[in-house]
Amino acid sequence: MNVEELSNKLEALASLAVAALAEAPRREDAIQIKNSYLGRKGQVQDLMKVLRDLAHEDRRLAGQASNACKQAIEGAFEARMRAIAEQELERKMREEAVDITLPARPLQASMGHPLRQIEQELIAIFEEMGFEVAEGPEIESDYFNFEALNFPPDHPARDMQDTFMLDDERLLRTHTSPVQVRTMQSYELPIRVISPGRVYRCDSDITHSPVFHQVEGLLVDEHVTFGDLKGTLQHFAERCFGEGTPIRLRPSFFPFTEPSAEVDVGCIFCRGEGCRVCSHSGWIEILGSGMIDPNVLSASGIDPQRYSGFAFGLGVERVAMLKLGVNDIRLFYENDLRFLEQF
Ligand code: PHE
Repeated sequence: MNVEELSNKLEALASLAVAALAEAPRREDAIQIKNSYLGRKGQVQDLMKVLRDLAHEDRRLAGQASNACKQAIEGAFEARMRAIAEQELERKMREEAVDITLPARPLQASMGHPLRQIEQELIAIFEEMGFEVAEGPEIESDYFNFEALNFPPDHPARDMQDTFMLDDERLLRTHTSPVQVRTMQSYELPIRVISPGRVYRCDSDITHSPVFHQVEGLLVDEHVTFGDLKGTLQHFAERCFGEGTPIRLRPSFFPFTEPSAEVDVGCIFCRGEGCRVCSHSGWIEILGSGMIDPNVLSASGIDPQRYSGFAFGLGVERVAMLKLGVNDIRLFYENDLRFLEQF
């Protein structure tokens, strides 16, 4: 083969390749066609084996012809790849076009968690009466959670079974009462605060959860009486559970209040007739309360000769279960939308 024949053959190969590439349907096809011509074992390489038989002066011409052939194929390949990319883009735009005339899917508006809704309601009732919100930490010291609240060192409520201890000194607060101490130590008198928040106890069944919520109330001033406590709670019960809802105070004990009372509201389901929810007693317990123990006032630097006060602690889950008719406390924590959406 002489150099002229070689050039002709290379040109013929190039036009075959260019034609094939122009028709290649997909990227893989284009790549495969290009390789069959330009690859290490491709047809162009194969043809160039004759180079060694050519006269020295013809080799340069043969090289030029081979380069021209490669460039033509390379060029056709690039052009085809660009065209395929463009076609793909066009197809995508066509297929994924958004039909703006379709009706929109309804948006699910979010709302507060039922516990938060009830908590807000409780806070609002006390704010109307002039209480302001105060908050304290969930990780507390033994001092604020127990000692300053007049718990003797061996009081059963300090038992490890109830309290989640973090180390010797720190614990997860078992009630919101430590906020009483914190506000008495840092606020100016008179004090009228309400303190909502999470509390923790090692306890769990259909009416107990290891984490739950309380709303603490605290009022300290001159001449505060047990009658003030009762009147405040009576007003609260009617605002929360409806006009005419009666309350009943039963003697009780808390280390930080004296005297202490547990407070029941007339069962909101049977209106006192007796039903399953109130165990046929007509009453449902909702909070603990009492007059602040003089020891607790003194421990916070308040003169018990001059000042007195009352406090109460309300279980938010308890109120929520009653008001919303929920009979398993765990439903509040499972985040099941079918449950949450009902409120
Ligand atoms: N801290 C008490 C409890 O968790 C409730 C309480 C608060 C009682 C304030 C009296 C006064 O059971």
